[in-house]
Amino acid sequence: MARERGRRRNFPNRYVVPLHPDGAPPDFRSLFPNPAPLEADLGCGRGRFLLARAALAPGSNFIGVDLLSRRLGKFDLRAAARGLTNIRLLQGDVRYALEHFFPPASLSVAYLLFPDPWPKHRHHARRMLQPSFMDLLHRALAAGGLFHFATDHQDYFDAALKIFARDPRFEPAPPFEPAPEERTDFEMLFLGLDRTTRRASLRKR
Ligand SMILES: C[S@@+](CC[C@H](N)C(=O)[O-])C[C@H]1O[C@@H](n2cnc3c(N)ncnc32)[C@H](O)[C@@H]1O
Repeated sequence: MARERGRRRNFPNRYVVPLHPDGAPPDFRSLFPNPAPLEADLGCGRGRFLLARAALAPGSNFIGVDLLSRRLGKFDLRAAARGLTNIRLLQGDVRYALEHFFPPASLSVAYLLFPDPWPKHRHHARRMLQPSFMDLLHRALAAGGLFHFATDHQDYFDAALKIFARDPRFEPAPPFEPAPEERTDFEMLFLGLDRTTRRASLRKR
């Protein structure tokens, strides 16, 4: 933790949303110059995807959520270099943000791109995508809102498809196909290793 805090001080963090000491949720509408549909990248990492997406879709506002301040710091520097005004970053746990920070039905799109696969069977409970995650997603997404999932991990993908198929609150939607510049930092890494990306998308009914 001390190392993490030390690193955090090295970044200006102009894009990271200051959190209230009393735990009150941020006022998302006041974070952006223009009111627009809100999209969230859950576990955004260093932000290659969201930076490109925000530039390609100036009519939407974007929030990147990640636990790691060092990754968000790099993201922050890259966003500042591009002068983007429709991105903000939230440092914290995705599940907590979905449950306590995003108002109900506030998100038009949520992305979960290349989450940690936790490949060992005994670690599967640590995966982000669980039936309980679907409850949080359902709460935060607006009716008709989209959820886009991608992974290079076949077993995680199969498990996700089972969870999706058992959840009648969502219906299948066409998978999100990123433009080349929208590929995430991890996808770029996996492409170099010749791994196949699997994608699935859902729409909240
Ligand atoms: C494998 S990386 C993928 C990052 C990015 N989506 C990409 O494709 O380049 C997973 C990211 O999720 C973040 N993460 C993992 N668990 C998280 C949680 N519970 N809340 C917020 N972020 C989390 C990690 O810090 C990491 O940046």
